[in-house]
Amino acid sequence: MLYDSLLRPLLFRLPPETAHEFALRTLSFGLSADSLRRAAARRFSREPFGVLERFGLKFRNPVGLAAGFDKNGTIARGVASLGFGFVEVGTVTHHAQPGNPRPRLFRLPQDRALVNRAGFNNDGAVALVETLRDRRPDCVLGINIGKSRSVEIEDAVDDYLASFTLVHHLADYVAVNVSSPNTPHLRELQRADRLAALLGALQQRNGELASKEMRPSLPLLVKVSPDLHAGEAELIVDVALQTGFAGIIATNTTTSRAGLRSSPETVSACGEGGLSGAPLRARATQMIASLRRLSRSSLVIVGVGGIFSAADAWEKICAGAGLVQLYTGLVYEGFGVARDINDGLAEIARREGFRSLDEAVGCRADQLAAA
Ligand SMILES: Cc1cc2nc3c(=O)[nH]c(=O)nc-3n(C[C@H](O)[C@H](O)[C@H](O)COP(=O)(O)O)c2cc1C
Repeated sequence: MLYDSLLRPLLFRLPPETAHEFALRTLSFGLSADSLRRAAARRFSREPFGVLERFGLKFRNPVGLAAGFDKNGTIARGVASLGFGFVEVGTVTHHAQPGNPRPRLFRLPQDRALVNRAGFNNDGAVALVETLRDRRPDCVLGINIGKSRSVEIEDAVDDYLASFTLVHHLADYVAVNVSSPNTPHLRELQRADRLAALLGALQQRNGELASKEMRPSLPLLVKVSPDLHAGEAELIVDVALQTGFAGIIATNTTTSRAGLRSSPETVSACGEGGLSGAPLRARATQMIASLRRLSRSSLVIVGVGGIFSAADAWEKICAGAGLVQLYTGLVYEGFGVARDINDGLAEIARREGFRSLDEAVGCRADQLAAA
């Protein structure tokens, strides 16, 4: 309520990236003290379905913060106390980099959407490790890794391996981002031959590090684009299964501008970049349902794209998502969004007669894949 009536109107007066930085600073400052974080956690934390087991990890609820919001891991701990079951930091690259020139983040309020071409602005993997060392969040932590811009696509494997080797000991899972539209050629890594080389090398390094450190290897997930053709999605599922990946995060932002309500002038003023939020919802849901069917339920699908409410999250779960994430929903709905979605999910599950969340996962995959 406070967010709708006061905070959002104020934040939306600022340029989008300034508002984002302001929110990061407020969260980092406001929730830096243990006592304040504990107070926030009492208000926002939820465990509506008991502990959820996914790829060997325990989640207190299925709602996560998607990559890109906290690229440098500075507020992961504070955000966790706002009721998220997991937080994915990054995308982090091996080399620190400034990203694309500003402005690079735009709002389309009529569409409840954002367009961004941030281009992986981040302080690099070494800095992320330094930041997270004493500030691990009190929930499952994912670290999302991507390719440094200065590295040619042919040398991408070594660049990802360098990031993985630096961050692996702090992560509960690692997400491999091959789907951002804002790093030239990155999405070519989704091609089966390139993807097999990348995921295979990461899984091998994962096994080597685990046996050296005498612990189980980490769950690895790959994050895909919503703009894949059916054939491409099928090949990605094959590669993920062959390389022992635990799951697929679906989806990243889209380059499509189809079906927007905002005027063509407003849309073209944003320029190039990835579109997120409400216009992505149906497309991401369909991708989740297809991936669920193609993988015959043997991969965990993390559903992301256009989630603002419990009904949106429920749709993703019914399509086959074992977990969900959001970014744009946090910008439009405010800091209570994870709590509200968790409360709403419990209510919907009860109303529809499901005894557990797992029973609902994929229950409408056939229908939603064909939608
Ligand atoms: C400003 C912005 C920056 C993002 N940066 C990243 C990123 O660094 N890595 C990544 O994997 N996804 C990134 N994303 C994509 C989100 O994680 C998510 O996949 C996408 O926005 C769809 O979810 P949403 O509709 O809930 O926002 C970014 C999204 C936005 C809006």
